[in-house]
Amino acid sequence: MEKLREREHDFSAKLRQKSVVERLRQYITWQRAVRRSDDRAELPPFGPVSINLDLTSACNFRCPHCVDSGIINTGETLSLDAIKQSIDTLQKKGLLSVILIGGGEPTVHRDFEEIVRFIRNRGLQVGIATNGSRLERVEAVADLLQEGDWLRLSLDAAREDTFHKSHRPAGGITLRGILRNAQRVKKANPKISLGYSYVIVWEGIHMGGHELASNVGEVPEAVEKAREYSFDYISFKPCLLRLEGSGKESLFDPPDPAREARVISGIRESLLEAQARSGPDMKILKSVNLQAMMDGKLHELKNQPVTCHSQFFRTVLAPSGVFHCPAFRGVPQGRIASDDGYLDEEMFGRTQASLDASIRSFDARRECSVVVCFYHHVNWWIERFIESPRDVSEIEVVQDNNFFL
Ligand SMILES: C[S@@+](CC[C@H](N)C(=O)[O-])C[C@H]1O[C@@H](n2cnc3c(N)ncnc32)[C@H](O)[C@@H]1O
Repeated sequence: MEKLREREHDFSAKLRQKSVVERLRQYITWQRAVRRSDDRAELPPFGPVSINLDLTSACNFRCPHCVDSGIINTGETLSLDAIKQSIDTLQKKGLLSVILIGGGEPTVHRDFEEIVRFIRNRGLQVGIATNGSRLERVEAVADLLQEGDWLRLSLDAAREDTFHKSHRPAGGITLRGILRNAQRVKKANPKISLGYSYVIVWEGIHMGGHELASNVGEVPEAVEKAREYSFDYISFKPCLLRLEGSGKESLFDPPDPAREARVISGIRESLLEAQARSGPDMKILKSVNLQAMMDGKLHELKNQPVTCHSQFFRTVLAPSGVFHCPAFRGVPQGRIASDDGYLDEEMFGRTQASLDASIRSFDARRECSVVVCFYHHVNWWIERFIESPRDVSEIEVVQDNNFFL
């Protein structure tokens, strides 16, 4: 059986994993029936493979570049009971991984440790994206994490002053302190995959009426810091913006080829130097959209098929509701249920009915024409398969490995 080659971004291979492929086959079969206008076609009885679980909207940093700035610190949070019940329901429907991430800062949730314990004790894979301010809470549950689980720190800087400008942390928190704590967590459990996340901010980006501090020049130093403090990888991604009016995530909108070329050449130089300075053990990852930027194919990622297939395989559960896509967190067109949408079997049924309607009616070609979509490749892969004469039994199966979508 084929192995997953590139773990992070090859979503179509992830959907072909042994534990997932059956629902991919049923989904394709269902889509074909829908397209034949077969009235008996029912959405396959599975929930998402993977969810983004936003524990709380509360955040103790004030990052000027925050793509979620419009939905943080609203006072909303998910309760421990609701989280446990929702995960229970979803696991019965095939949930395999949980990513504790956006909106606010997961580690400020009152029950953070218990939530991680609950997820891990259920045998689900877990990923944690954090600003690193409360790593002692991660350390308290570090021994539960298994091979494949990850902890990713959103640092976005290599120097103390840039770190402060780009995060405005609550008093006393320093980049050095966070890096030391991260190293301690890694030492406590070397199985955890520890990531240094770096949003690349170039000159001329304005958010909230101010120009953001550029960190392009610090990229090589960040790679050195990541190595010095025992990170397994550093991942770079471009700074996204939410468009005024629609609230959708975007990048270089409207397009500006001359500016893009200048920005890309600066980033390329920094990344080349970073590669030259990185040791053999330091993995440098580029997000799908950064890679597309470097390859001059950014605008291709804004061209989606009409149907967004990914919404069947991963969703976002947040205090403000269930969303069909991380890029539509907090955006009304992306909301398929309220925050109790997975609480029990009955609510799950209603949420799936809403998802069914969303898959049928949400026009990704139009709605996502400004979104640089992470799921572009997998959506097209599924779309082409649906429209092909191939039988679903021909889909090649990949060994189970990584269920994060
Ligand atoms: C909004 S944060 C919330 C989770 C947690 N507080 C943290 O700091 O990781 C979730 C992710 O969004 C990323 N992010 C925030 N603003 C962004 C932007 N403008 N462009 C790209 N990624 C961004 C962060 O780097 C982080 O990895």
